[in-house]
This record gives sequence, structure tokens and C-alpha cells, in this order.
Amino acid sequence: MTKRILSGMQPTHGLHLGNYLGALRNWVDLQHNDYEALFCVVDLHAITLPYESDMLASRTREVAAAYIAAGIDPRKSTIFAQSAVPEHSQLMWLLATMAQMGKLDRMTQFKDKAGKNAERVGLGLYAYPVLMAADILIYKATHVPVGEDQKQHLELARDLAATFNTRYKREFFPQPEPQILGEATRVMSLQDGAKKMSKSDPSEKSRINLTDDAETIAAKIKRAQTDSEPLPMNVEGLKDRAGADNLVTIYAALKRCSRADVLSEFGGQQWSGFKPALAELAVAELSPITAKMADLMANPAKIDKILAQGAEKARSIAAPVLKETMDIMGFWH
Ligand code: TYM
Repeated sequence: MTKRILSGMQPTHGLHLGNYLGALRNWVDLQHNDYEALFCVVDLHAITLPYESDMLASRTREVAAAYIAAGIDPRKSTIFAQSAVPEHSQLMWLLATMAQMGKLDRMTQFKDKAGKNAERVGLGLYAYPVLMAADILIYKATHVPVGEDQKQHLELARDLAATFNTRYKREFFPQPEPQILGEATRVMSLQDGAKKMSKSDPSEKSRINLTDDAETIAAKIKRAQTDSEPLPMNVEGLKDRAGADNLVTIYAALKRCSRADVLSEFGGQQWSGFKPALAELAVAELSPITAKMADLMANPAKIDKILAQGAEKARSIAAPVLKETMDIMGFWH
């Protein structure tokens, strides 16, 4: 069977270092293997919470620009907007009939995002993981590179594939494998090592955005949470030191080495020495991407062309899968 990758990011605010290290950079690496890869901007997911409709299209372009600037090559991989391929939503309805409420009730991301408002949030937020399953299964994707926070959603996608196959007595949908890769599968907030770095954190200082300039990155790292102890000599010494662990993990991921390697270089040193080194590394990795993103955003027609071609390619895969799914389910045609 062809190996096929599908992954996506929401166009809510800009992308941050967690999106980059936990997902985007891995996509770029995987692109060089013998996978067929599709990367979408999941705009339908981005409307599950209140959002600014006049910004949605430009944020969609901006995420596409980030993919390309980070190294996703539109000639090798298919880049598109989720809403431009209506088969995602169509398959979602079919899968929704097989998704058990009990399983959706256990989704931690829904609980986090709904907070105390669970009674009042929209059905879309609750059904979000079913749409995500449809995103993956509509391409019969075999591999899904994501950060650790998406693991539970992926379990649901696997579950729905298995439910469909059992119910209709054939191996139709492959079981998509999560690919949670690299050292930084869960980058934490710079201000609170117990919280995930997130687009929805109200504090800008909690995250490094892909659009931040060198000075901003350095200032955010300088103010990042640590503790009064110096860097430990070994990885065990990071236990119960969430802020410290986070910075060491980020350094390791950026340098493509292990946390142990970082500590063999910096163990025993003060944070005042480590933080500028981390800032320098982050700037070296991110500033070419930031610059390329700005170039691309200055030429939206170019991004639109890539997105239009991507949507056409994606639909050419998705439409026959939807048709076959509906045939299997017995629909009139
Ligand atoms: P989203 O937009 O929240 O995040 C995009 C990707 O970035 C990863 N990520 C992180 N990785 C490490 N540390 C962090 N702090 C961090 N924050 C985010 C996420 O794991 C993700 O890989 N539901 C998905 C989008 C989606 C999708 C899909 C993904 C929709 N359909 C189909 C894969 C396949 C989401 O909200 O990601």
C-alpha cells in the first residue's frame, strides 16, 4: 500500500514554536522519504470557537506560507485549505453516525476548550475530532505526523476506521499511524512549564511565534520561567523542574540532539548563560522562515495558486474515496 501522510494546522492566530517543533519541521523531514504527503490548513476546525471572519482567509494564507517557508515543497507535497475539499465534511457526517458519544465525552481537548461553558459551546467543537478523522480517512492516509496533544484524536480516527471496516465487513480504511517525532513533542508555555504552548494563551510572552523578530524572541526567552538552581548535570535533574526542562527540550530540538547532550554542554551553568545561547539558536532557525513567510505574504496570488492547485489534487484523491464509501454504505446513485 502507498504510504500517505496527512496532517494539518488551524489558522487561528499565527503559528508558534510548538507547532513548528512538534509538527511542521517533522513534516519537512518526512517529505524526503517515499511518502505521498498532503498538508491542509484546517480552516473548518478554526471556526469551532468564536473567530474573526474577516481574518480567516488571510490567516489561512499565512499558515500555507509558513508551511512553504519552513520547507514544504508544493511540487512534492499537496498544500490546500480543508474547506476547499468538501469531501472532508461529507465524510464527517458519515463517520459521525459511527462515533460514540462516550468516546467524544472523554476528549481532553474538548474539555479544555469548552472549560466551564460545556453546555453552551457549539456542536462543532464537540464533533471536532470526527472532522479530524474524516480529514485523515478521506485520503486513506497511513501516517499522521502530529504533536503529542493530538494523540487522543488520532485514537478516535483509528477507532472509526476499525468501526467502519467491521460494520461493512471489509478492510477499507487503513489504520492511520501517529508519528510523534523528535525531542519536542510537547513544547510548554514559556511562562508556565505545566501548560502547553498554545495559540489560545492570552499572554504573548508564553509563546514564540513564527513571525516574531530576533529581538522579540530574545526578550521572551530572557523572561522565560526557570528556577533559582543552575542547569542540572543530567536529565534526572530536570525532574520536577518543568520550566527548566522545557527550555532544555527546546534547545535539544532546535539543535537536533538529546537533552542529555545539551546538559553535557551546559550542566552546572547559570540560566543567564544558557538563555542567550538558546535565543541565538532559535533566531538562527526561525529567522529565515520568518523572512520567507513575509516574502510569500507580500505575494498572496502566489499562495492562492498553490492552494488552488493543491485543492484540485486533493479532491482527485478524496472524491473517489467518498464515492466508494457511499457505495459501501448502500446509498442510491
Ligand atoms: P493545532 O493547529 O492545534 O496544532 C498543529 C500541530 O502542532 C502541534 N502542536 C504542538 N506540538 C508540540 N508542542 C506544542 N505546544 C504544540 N501545540 C501544537 C499539534 O499537535 C499539531 O500537530 N486538530 C489539529 C489539527 C488537525 C489535524 C487534522 C492534524 C485537524 N485535522 C488531521 C492532523 C490530521 C489541531 O488543532 O492542531
